[in-house]
Amino acid sequence: MTQPAPEKRLYIKTYGCQMNVYDSERMADVLRPLGYGLTDRPEDADLVVLNTCHIREKATEKVYSELGQIKRLKADKAAAGGSMLVAVAGCVAQAEGAEIVRRQPAVDLVVGPQAYHRLPELIARAHRASGEALAADFAPEGKFDALPATRAPGGVTAFLTVQEGCDKFCAFCVVPYTRGAEYSRPAAAIEAEARALADNGVREVTLLGQNVNAYDDGEGGGLAALIRRLAAIPGLARIRYTTSHPRDMDAALIAAHGEVEALMPYLHLPVQAGSDRVLKAMNRGHTAEHYLRLVERIRAARPDIALSGDFIVGFPGERDADFEATLALVREAGYASAFSFKYSRRPGTPAAAMPGQVPDEVKAERLARLQALVETQQRAFNSGQAGKVLPVLFEKVGRKPGQIAGRSPYLQAVHCEGEDHLIGRIEPLRIVAAGANSLAGERVAAIA
Ligand code: SAH
Ligand code: SF4
Ligand code: F3S
Repeated sequence: MTQPAPEKRLYIKTYGCQMNVYDSERMADVLRPLGYGLTDRPEDADLVVLNTCHIREKATEKVYSELGQIKRLKADKAAAGGSMLVAVAGCVAQAEGAEIVRRQPAVDLVVGPQAYHRLPELIARAHRASGEALAADFAPEGKFDALPATRAPGGVTAFLTVQEGCDKFCAFCVVPYTRGAEYSRPAAAIEAEARALADNGVREVTLLGQNVNAYDDGEGGGLAALIRRLAAIPGLARIRYTTSHPRDMDAALIAAHGEVEALMPYLHLPVQAGSDRVLKAMNRGHTAEHYLRLVERIRAARPDIALSGDFIVGFPGERDADFEATLALVREAGYASAFSFKYSRRPGTPAAAMPGQVPDEVKAERLARLQALVETQQRAFNSGQAGKVLPVLFEKVGRKPGQIAGRSPYLQAVHCEGEDHLIGRIEPLRIVAAGANSLAGERVAAIA
């Protein structure tokens, strides 16, 4: 079926995690039948959507400064006789609701992450300027049932949300408030979406969830069973998942890492801190020892696994000795990569009201030390691949002419000389150079 040419232009800007990337694609899918085609120029857009993130203060503030610029574009367009609708979606929309419109009146509609299927109705209401264009439902099943079954063909890799929400209530985190309770999509719907992606040329899917390894199909099947089911789909060569919680890393999932060929040897398993006192105050529900033993079991199943994680420095009450425990945990666990953040005080979360808030200079100093350690480990992990032959999935053209780029099984960016027609193929590459953030390879056939 040929699509009618788009009559209206849609600009979407995405902040935050991969789940927002997935949601932005699905919003475009919902709006396509209404005649909206994507543009990357906000000044041309009939509808601007900011898909926002609330996780740290900076993320939220970025949205308001972007809205200030959009407001000027909207005024310019109105002066030229045109019009522009401005929508705020995502986690700031869920957390702040109508407050956003009070702070920035140029916003026409506010739509929370579980209400994207209602966008057409909200747009119609905003056009009528009835002043009710606010939707912050909390029922993810409605969202997934009502989203269109088809997705626009994209690249070689795709995100696929299988689980949303979080019941863990870490003391620092807004996600349980912005994404609601843990909800898993039915396995059959996920499989249908994955098959459609594979039919469109997708070779790798990353299964998404705020607590993806808490996935539960309602019939006793967890994430491991879902992965095994998806691994049988013809054409789908690689499966990844993110983000996992240590408490939900069950034996079946660990075993799958040793047994399912399509499951890539990479695991993002945040621990947040290495001090049990801080972990307890964070309400993480695990100790440092529990995490380290878990990593040991995972490495027993899959010795080469690339371990990744998230860390927060300067959580309220974190002393020097606690921070040293985080460094010690990093040294013992050994990371291929990791993300680390200064603790950001989020309104409404338990940690925001805790005594012992840590001064910013202390946070900055701890962050720099942690990041230096992680970078050393990351370089060591990457250098360890030099001389090896790794299967690389080519995803796109490279930065330099004549180059193509892709990913190793360990999620490392790899580039080599090669032609565009290789995109979508998995080829063995000999790794000839390794930096902090990427590897250079040579096609093995080309070497021989
Ligand atoms: N559900 C995932 C990720 C949640 S958000 C998990 O549980 O791991 C991604 C990361 O942002 C978190 O892992 C945490 O390291 C960081 N983060 C969350 N809230 C934060 C806050 N208030 N300040 C600083 N970093 C935060
Ligand atoms: Fe936030 Fe903790 Fe839930 Fe992750 S597990 S989303 S950090 S509350
Ligand atoms: Fe941000 Fe919401 Fe994701 S707060 S990290 S966009 S779940």
